[in-house]
Amino acid sequence: MSFTLNPPAYIQNQKLIDWVASMAELTQPDAIHWCDGSVEEYDALCEELVQAGTFKRLNPAKRANSYLACSDPSDVARVEDKTFICSEKKDDAGPTNNWMAPDEMRATLKPLFTGCMRGRTMYVIPFSMGPLGSDIAHIGVELSDSAYVAVNMKHMTRMGKAVCEVLGKDGEFVPCVHTVGAPLAAGEKDKTTWPCNPDVKYIVHYPETREIWSYGSGYGGNALLGKKCFALRIASNMGRDQGWLAEHMLILGVTDPNGVKKHVAAAFPSACGKTNFSMLIPPKVGFEGWKVTTVGDDIAWIKPGKDGRLYAINPEFGYFGVAPGTNNESNKNCMDSLNKDVIFTNVALTDDGDVWWEGMDGAPPAHAIDWQGNDWTPELGKQGKKAAHPNSRFTVPATNNPAIDPEYDNPAGVAIDAFLFGGRRSTTIPLVTEARNWTQGVYMAATMGSETTAAAFGAQGVVRRDPFAMLPFTGYNMSDYFAHWLNMGEKLTAQGAKLPKMYYVNWFRKNAEGKFVWPGFGDNMRVLQWILSRADGATDNGAEHFFGISPRYEDLNWKGLDFTPAQYATVTAMDKAEWQTEMGLHAELFEKLKDRMPAALEAYRHELEAKVNAL
Ligand code: OXD
Ligand code: MN
Repeated sequence: MSFTLNPPAYIQNQKLIDWVASMAELTQPDAIHWCDGSVEEYDALCEELVQAGTFKRLNPAKRANSYLACSDPSDVARVEDKTFICSEKKDDAGPTNNWMAPDEMRATLKPLFTGCMRGRTMYVIPFSMGPLGSDIAHIGVELSDSAYVAVNMKHMTRMGKAVCEVLGKDGEFVPCVHTVGAPLAAGEKDKTTWPCNPDVKYIVHYPETREIWSYGSGYGGNALLGKKCFALRIASNMGRDQGWLAEHMLILGVTDPNGVKKHVAAAFPSACGKTNFSMLIPPKVGFEGWKVTTVGDDIAWIKPGKDGRLYAINPEFGYFGVAPGTNNESNKNCMDSLNKDVIFTNVALTDDGDVWWEGMDGAPPAHAIDWQGNDWTPELGKQGKKAAHPNSRFTVPATNNPAIDPEYDNPAGVAIDAFLFGGRRSTTIPLVTEARNWTQGVYMAATMGSETTAAAFGAQGVVRRDPFAMLPFTGYNMSDYFAHWLNMGEKLTAQGAKLPKMYYVNWFRKNAEGKFVWPGFGDNMRVLQWILSRADGATDNGAEHFFGISPRYEDLNWKGLDFTPAQYATVTAMDKAEWQTEMGLHAELFEKLKDRMPAALEAYRHELEAKVNAL
């Protein structure tokens, strides 16, 4: 062994020390670095990354304490076809997940992980998903041979010494192993500033033993293992077993002019505007005194409280957001969060040492270096050459957000008043629909479709079913996941709890010219206000239709916005032929998931189909 283990005295957990020793024996790093999560450590690792050429330090007069990394062109998104749920039984992973038997996968990974960290340092990264010590939070430890991962984990999680103190001698942690899959021979130096394995990638989850093994990629969703791998795929298994929910949801607070605050959790697929919605600024006119605050922008862990209400925490500590399209109109709070302490990945570098991406405010720079290191000009932009990769990202601590919710670190979480579900649909789905009951809400979420985005490899703009926005993230059989949602509703109702209402929203309807009709962004507040009025018990401000209840034109607050009834009709129309096609797609999904599909959802599908045919 070429390394010494040398754990710091504050690490008391022998299971952790033994596991690190055995993983170091397997992966054979040159050195082991136990991350304490301090600012000094962060600064030193960033400096090493600058020296290695992985990071460029941005002009501090433009972006204080911020860096730009540009990845290998093969490593820019989540790799869903290389992501596996290795449960003992194939049916427990279900038809929506890639599956391999655990023994077979372990045999596949063993030679890949043997010596995979040679020539590199292994970073031991203890992290808490959720406020330290919260009953809803859980601890993980990531071992990674990437300093880029270590510094990003500091932004994205509560990380380091304080976590080890909570872990104590006997605390449980989810073991997560990550390697870029590019070992170095003795004396060999990296030939690239983004070591990864362009050919072999595996993102592997063992749900029964609660382990994560990630090989070959440095991209956020594949490499920052607290996020999708733990907080969704493994945690969804924990939630099913322990009676809680791990969801691909933002959480926001809305305070009305009387100071009454409510909370909403909303599921949208990747790159469909969750970060923007979670940081929404209400329109100035018509919403005087209203305030929206961000608890989280991507993931929610939700547990029933003693009072039967559902309490949610954001397990993350930072934002890993999509840069293109972010500007002062779409998301001013986010732009203000990005003035300091940011790690940008795959955006363009301007000549004055700042960053730029498509859709940023103002005119594009006359010249920039694109994310692949080439000269870029607006002329090239007109020819379709992107300066920033469409899935380029920023990582920044949530505490930079001027609209952070005062409860973001509350170990008890916040009580949820409404669930929203929404995809990116240019046709068919109206602006907002309230489900009449929990089962119909679960059906709406289960059958959600969305046009695909650059957040995952593959064709873009194709409608795919993305149940609960969890298609790539549910770590077990999707039909069992639906059943878990139904069971949670039943159990809580039996305890006399009032369940949050559920809403299906769609900000993305287009007109005949292919242009978005709904203004979106801050104007989504109009829909939110209606939803909250319903949570408050209003019943006379909506119209029933076959799919649920939607506001009539006169039920929304239009102050300050010139939006005509005809435009409203465009974003709310429900066309029989489109809905017949839609029901056909629901039937296809149900056919795929039929083995364990809950009877209540199948029954409701038939009911809905009959209603659509009778239109
Ligand atoms: C994300 C994603 O990065 O959903 O949040 O892909
Ligand atoms: Mn996401």
